[in-house]
Amino acid sequence: MKLFDVYPINDIAIVKGKGSYIWDEKGDQYLDMYGGHAVISIGHTHPHYVQRISEQLNKVGFYSNSIRIPLQEELADKLGRLSGKPDYQLFLCNSGAEANENALKLASFYNGRKKVIAFKKSFHGRTSLAVAATDNPAIVAPVNATSNIIFLPFNDEEALEKTFKEQGNEISSVIIEGIQGVGGINIASTPFLRKIRALCDEYNAVFIADSVQCGYGRSGKFFSHDHAGVDADIYTMAKGMGNGFPVAGIIISPRIQPKHGMLGTTFGGNHLACAAALAVIEVMEKESLIANAETIGAYLIEELKKIPLLENVRGRGLMIGFDLPETLKDLRKNLLWKQKVFTGEAKPHVIRLLPSLALRKKDADEFLEAVKEETLALA
Ligand SMILES: Cc1ncc(COP(=O)(O)O)c(C=O)c1O
Repeated sequence: MKLFDVYPINDIAIVKGKGSYIWDEKGDQYLDMYGGHAVISIGHTHPHYVQRISEQLNKVGFYSNSIRIPLQEELADKLGRLSGKPDYQLFLCNSGAEANENALKLASFYNGRKKVIAFKKSFHGRTSLAVAATDNPAIVAPVNATSNIIFLPFNDEEALEKTFKEQGNEISSVIIEGIQGVGGINIASTPFLRKIRALCDEYNAVFIADSVQCGYGRSGKFFSHDHAGVDADIYTMAKGMGNGFPVAGIIISPRIQPKHGMLGTTFGGNHLACAAALAVIEVMEKESLIANAETIGAYLIEELKKIPLLENVRGRGLMIGFDLPETLKDLRKNLLWKQKVFTGEAKPHVIRLLPSLALRKKDADEFLEAVKEETLALA
């Protein structure tokens, strides 16, 4: 059997990882400034993470949500504390798309409405409603198409206000990434997020903060939406939550009450997934990784701004992007093949940095040197 060929891949097979480094089968070492797409939050193969998952696997790996799983309660408790939202409620699932799917559905159960406001350049996942709320017609199959999604320009308060004035009583939810990832590292402005909060309150709509990529400490605060000082009604989380173990979740404000059978999943919140998520939180707290993301991120942004030709360096914490002029269009490729550095991209010419939150200053310096060398070579 062949693999279903949907990914444009680089011909590199990773066999080992440690901290912010990975090694291929030939023994070549790479600096990982991509984190497997913002997933590696505490670093590859962190010893505490490996130990906690291994120990759990030796006890029990899985049982269904028909029984009490104390690890879920422990996770809810620790997550409530770390996120600063102890009064919210946790529902666990397996992926970012599934988290958004559940959030959109829950919002609709809550207010009985159908319309969703999403934004230009958004990415919310590839399943039914999540993909419908994603601004990329190429990945929306005919069966996913729905007239229930209203796409508005990002950070446009007037357009938002006008839409609420016209259709406010039909709007179930507003879904927004605090920092758009796939869309190219675009930061939602503080006034815009506050306007969403105010309009959702006025019209009893649900504010969904897609924190799948920009959340879990990456921006230097637990949720990137926290930079605006607003509370969303539902936060969706995935990537960094399990440091590579597939675990995701939504946290739900006390304003929304659960009913048995409303949401459900077979695998979500299983023992092994909880052990992985708990290990991540424990390491984040012990090693102050959110503060590290803020400090190292600010340093990287400041230093990248000094490199000639890199345009519009932007971001928060360790979620950073910059535009490439035509002369530097091969920069990402050269960083990978010549400098052995993984980075992310956004179309058409944006480099995205999504490294582990444990990135050290010397790793950042190594990256900056590689960028300087390659920009000089291309200029
Ligand atoms: C903001 C955002 N939401 C949702 C998703 C979907 O997550 P998953 O691929 O785990 O379904 C992604 C994935 O890149 C994302 O960046």
